[in-house]
Amino acid sequence: MGKLNCSTGLCDMQTMIHCCIFIFFLGGLATVSFYKNNKQEVAMHNIAVTLSNAFTNNNTDTRVFDHQVSPSSTATCDLFSGRWVLDNTSHYPLYKEQQCPRLEDTFACQTYGRKDSKYLHWKWQPHGCDFPRFDGKAIAERLRGKRLLFVGDSLNRNQWNSMICMLYSSIPGVKTAGGGLSGLLRTFRAADYNISVDFYWAPMLVESLGDSPTNHHTDNRIVRIKSIEKHARHWIDADILIFNSFHWWRSPVVKLLKSGGSLLDDPNQEYEEVDSLSAYKMGLKTWSNWAQTHIDPLKTKLFFMGATATHSRAKDWGGTNKWNCYGETEPVMDDGFWESGTNSKMLSILDSSLRKLKETGVNIQIINITQLTQCRKDGHTTVYRKQWRPLTDEQKKNPGLASDCSHWCLPGVPDIWNELLLAYIFR
Ligand SMILES: *[C@@H]1O[C@H](CO)[C@@H](O)[C@H](O)[C@H]1NC(C)=O
Ligand SMILES: *[C@@H]1O[C@H](CO)[C@@H](O)[C@H](O)[C@H]1NC(C)=O
Ligand SMILES: *[C@@H]1O[C@H](CO)[C@@H](O)[C@H](O)[C@H]1NC(C)=O
Ligand SMILES: *[C@@H]1O[C@H](CO)[C@@H](O)[C@H](O)[C@H]1NC(C)=O
Repeated sequence: MGKLNCSTGLCDMQTMIHCCIFIFFLGGLATVSFYKNNKQEVAMHNIAVTLSNAFTNNNTDTRVFDHQVSPSSTATCDLFSGRWVLDNTSHYPLYKEQQCPRLEDTFACQTYGRKDSKYLHWKWQPHGCDFPRFDGKAIAERLRGKRLLFVGDSLNRNQWNSMICMLYSSIPGVKTAGGGLSGLLRTFRAADYNISVDFYWAPMLVESLGDSPTNHHTDNRIVRIKSIEKHARHWIDADILIFNSFHWWRSPVVKLLKSGGSLLDDPNQEYEEVDSLSAYKMGLKTWSNWAQTHIDPLKTKLFFMGATATHSRAKDWGGTNKWNCYGETEPVMDDGFWESGTNSKMLSILDSSLRKLKETGVNIQIINITQLTQCRKDGHTTVYRKQWRPLTDEQKKNPGLASDCSHWCLPGVPDIWNELLLAYIFR
């Protein structure tokens, strides 16, 4: 630069300065890259260590615990098979209700009168290994520039809400919440980090009578079983997609709409009635076909959440409560416990649908939380939430009747689902 026009002395001087700047720049780059690699290594090391902790001081076998090695590594160590242990160290709960301004009234148990607190201190302990503890700062850094999108029913909204609460205090800067698409979409954005964590309401994934985000309290299951594009076109620009769909298919019959007419109750509708198992299979097939043709594995990571327990029969755990999960303050301590509302046939359909999708080359990971929710009869919101409708006289006489035994208190069990999800996102 200007080298040819100058006197020797000045040139040397200039070259030296340029050289210095260049070397300084290189040095900087090297430092940055060293720092980055080192940080990554430290992170990897941490994972390896925490993951192998449970194998009592046997650190020689890091192969199965190294998140970087291969997709089969996490398969070798099954994070979804384990037991609940009381963790009275300070790790749980991951946040307090007051620290999460975005916590929905439907999940804010303590705010709405829950007095016991033991349910906040249980840790999920997989057999023979462990998963990384939630580190908000590190996660926020790694999510920089990413969009997470949860798609599904209110249990996925429960989990989305948990994720926002987990991240809220860890991400510095301006954070906003909003919505769009006529209420179908709920958003959370962290401006400085350019992170979006969104939720899209599509309880049956395919088009259904339940699609209204506000007015879907109907027992009638009417679906357009092959139509998904209307929803799905809003999903494809996400970096990380987390689906669920299970409980809405638990209905004696599902009506498959034949004509192109309105999904709303309409006496002129033509439909075919099928059993819920067949309908679930068909719905997942439509979704799988979409994933196969629209998901770019280089851009998008794909997850499916397993079914969660609904503790609606106290008899299942030999309870004295004649109704459901109302008043429960302890988990079931039998690891093999299975509540009667979790339909194994439906689980097999989910299993085989996802397996088939995988065989086509789509990289989908199931976060199988079925077992770990089975024992947590103490984790539900029951009556400790904002009641949207006044209680009936009968409900007032027996509050158990008004209990929600499907959704979960926050902080609480869904925080663990997210820790497991994050372990897979960043493995
Ligand atoms: C370490 O783990 C390996 C593989 O599981 C096992 O064969 C070996 O006996 C263990 N060593 C010790 C010291 O526990
Ligand atoms: C945690 O629990 C263990 C075992 O139940 C008990 O021995 C210990 O004192 C407890 N620690 C605290 C801080 O409560
Ligand atoms: C923010 O992230 C989105 C992806 O979620 C990306 O498309 C966009 O370019 C990013 N914006 C900035 C300013 O980095
Ligand atoms: C998840 O785990 C449960 C219990 O461990 C199992 O029965 C089920 O088949 C697994 N898969 C799915 C898709 O739920």
